[in-house]
Parts: sequence; structure tokens; C-alpha cells
Amino acid sequence: MSDPTQLAQWVRDARERSLGLVADLSPEQLKGPRLAIVNPLHWEIGHVAWFQELWALRQGRGERPLREDGDSLWDSGAVPHDTRWDLRLPSIEETKAYMREVRDRVVDGLAVDPKNRDLHYLVLYSVFHEDMHDEAFTYTRQTLGYPSPPTAGSAPSHLAAGPLAGDAEVPGGTFALGAAPDETFVFDNEKWAHPVGVAPFAIARAPVTQEQFAAFVDGAGYARRELWSEAGWEWRIRVEAEHPVYWRHDASGWQRRDFDRWVPLEPHRPIIHVSWHEAEAYCAWAGRRLPTEAEWEAAASLAPGAGAQAALSVGRRCTDVGAREPRCTGGRLRRRGRAPRRRQRLRLPADDRQRVGVGGRRLPALSRLRPRHVPRLLSAVVRHAQGPPGRLLGDAGPPAPQHVAELLPSRPPRRVGRVQDLPALT
Ligand SMILES: [Fe+2]
Repeated sequence: MSDPTQLAQWVRDARERSLGLVADLSPEQLKGPRLAIVNPLHWEIGHVAWFQELWALRQGRGERPLREDGDSLWDSGAVPHDTRWDLRLPSIEETKAYMREVRDRVVDGLAVDPKNRDLHYLVLYSVFHEDMHDEAFTYTRQTLGYPSPPTAGSAPSHLAAGPLAGDAEVPGGTFALGAAPDETFVFDNEKWAHPVGVAPFAIARAPVTQEQFAAFVDGAGYARRELWSEAGWEWRIRVEAEHPVYWRHDASGWQRRDFDRWVPLEPHRPIIHVSWHEAEAYCAWAGRRLPTEAEWEAAASLAPGAGAQAALSVGRRCTDVGAREPRCTGGRLRRRGRAPRRRQRLRLPADDRQRVGVGGRRLPALSRLRPRHVPRLLSAVVRHAQGPPGRLLGDAGPPAPQHVAELLPSRPPRRVGRVQDLPALT
């Protein structure tokens, strides 16, 4: 069961971040241009509060709607995206007052009903949803060239560190991919953990850097048809991509746009804001490929030098018995597909699932990231040297060419990785 005091703090934290991400923007900026890839921020901040009211207060606490017009304004499943600029929204101040009232009522509800597990789940759902929108607020500011968010803080020192060359060898084994039924919270597309065989492979120790990607660009990588998939080449031609979307070149060299400022390209900073197609073409140029989902999660779940025991200590034991198929011990997998009823009711609106992700896949919450997701945020491209072709991350269908905002968690992530027989990275 979740700690209601911690949950209340997360509710406050997420709301504070949401409000902070729009605090410095003018009414005109909060409306912004009508684009398919972003929402009007004025609408979006009300939406996160409405979503929390819907699930945590109305569903979880049985309360009546705070506003009669809430569903008609902020239900992302009912209000078409391109109409959100035309709505008769409450004023900015009224919207923020609504956000604060919902927050306070949820915190009060947790105090009044501290052992209600269904409420805990629904509050977590609303907090993770808000985290995703906080990510969206951030990439909207980048997309529209607004100033760096006042909540951004200073860049972590490791971004200024030198390159970390070389590959880590992962001998392979069995990885439990997905969420376990007894976890406090899971999203529907994480159900359920199942063993996946991972063949030996090698993966770059660190994300691809801007310097490395610039070599690809300078090497005519965007003009060499053979480096691109059919869909990738069609995308490149259609959007006239000649380099990463937020890059430009002048007499001094490459620069990147950091919100509303142009800065010289930091050579060892991980490349961000590239689409799946660009990542794939880079790998073809570098003689590598992108990792499969299982490969990526297995590699990201291991602490360098800590060995498999460290990963085992935080997860369920899963073993490859050498029989027809691997099994997880403890009978957990026998519950595969049988979700607790309260979870079966919950599905992210299609709007949210489609809009947030890399390669068409949903990204996890911003500030409560699980460790296996963090490196993916910081490295849209990961080099991969050996191993079987496997099923690549984007095989489920052509991904939306979406650029990824750089985001960092604000607190230590929760560990859920489960690796059995993968030895330490070397
Ligand atoms: Fe949403």
C-alpha cells in the first residue's frame, strides 16, 4: 500500500511543477499557435486538474463535479484537439484556482481516508498523468521557442563530462519484461511481466553524443538514401530534414536551440530531439542498430559493476530452466492477464497514449521515473554492436517522428527492474 503522506506530497509536488511551468508565460503564450503537436497551455493546465478531479475525487471519493462545464471543456477524449483553442475557457487565474482547489481536496481526501487502496491507486494515476503533461508543458516551451522554464534549474554536471567510449558486453539470459501484479501501480500497457530470452549483445556504455551525431550529419548522413528505411526516407523528404530539428550551422559551427537561446553544440552532451527515423539512420551509418525493448531494459536495469545480484535484490526471481519456456518462480506469471478489478477500469485516454512517447510508445511519468526509463529519455539513440537482429523497438508500426524533450527526474526513481542471470556489465 502506498504511504498516504507521500502520496499527498506527490500531489502537491506535481501541481507545483505544473504551475511553475506556466507561471512566467503571458496570456498570448499560454494560448499559443494552433499546432497538431502541442496543446494550448491554458487548456492543458485545466485538463490535468480536471483529470485528477474525475478520477481521485469523483471516482475515488464519490464527490460531485466541482464545475458543471468541466467535462465539456477538459475531457481530452471528447474535445477534439484542434478545437481546444476556440473553447470559452475560464480565465487563467480562475483555472489556477480550480487547480489548487482540486489539489487541496485530494490531499484532504487522503487524510480522511488514508487506508483506501483504490483511492491511492487513483491518486497515483492522476499524479503520473500530470507528470506526463508536465513533460508536455516542457516540450511545448521548446517547440514554441519560449524561455527555459523557471523550474529547470542548472544542468547536471555529468552533461559536461567527457565521452565514455566503448561497449558493455551483456552475455544474455532471461529478463522479466513488464510489471508484476503486486506492484502498487501499473499502466495497462505494462501488464504483465513475462520472461523474455535475451541473446548475448554489446551496447554502448553511454548515449550517443552530439559530437558523434554531428559527424553523421557532416558525413552527408541525411543525403545518403541507403542509410534510411523506406518510411524514414519518406519522412525526411516530407519534412525536409537536413539535420536535427533544433540545430543550425553558422561560421562557428553547429548550434542547438535551447528553448529561446542558441548555444554552441556541446560535444559530449547526449543527442536529443531526434526522431526514430534519424536514430535508425544514424545507427546504419555507425554500423550499429537500435536495441530491442528487452535488450534495452535488461542493460538499463543493471548497475555497472554491481552484478546481477543487485538487480535481483529489487525484483522477482526469474529463471531460465532450459525447458520449453522460461518460468518465473513464485507463481506470479500464472496470474498473467488477470488484473485487479480496479485496474481494469483504468485506461489512459487515447489522446494521452498517443501524444507522449518515443517511437509511438508511451514514456513514463516525469518525476517518478523508473530506472529503466531514465536512460531512454537521455539517449534517444543507443548504439548496439552485436547480437541477433531481434525485434526492434519500432516494429509495432511506423512511429510518429516526434522529438524528445530533455527531462530529468526530480527525485530518486523507484526500482522495478528484474534481471535474473545477466552478469555485471563490463
Ligand atoms: Fe491528459
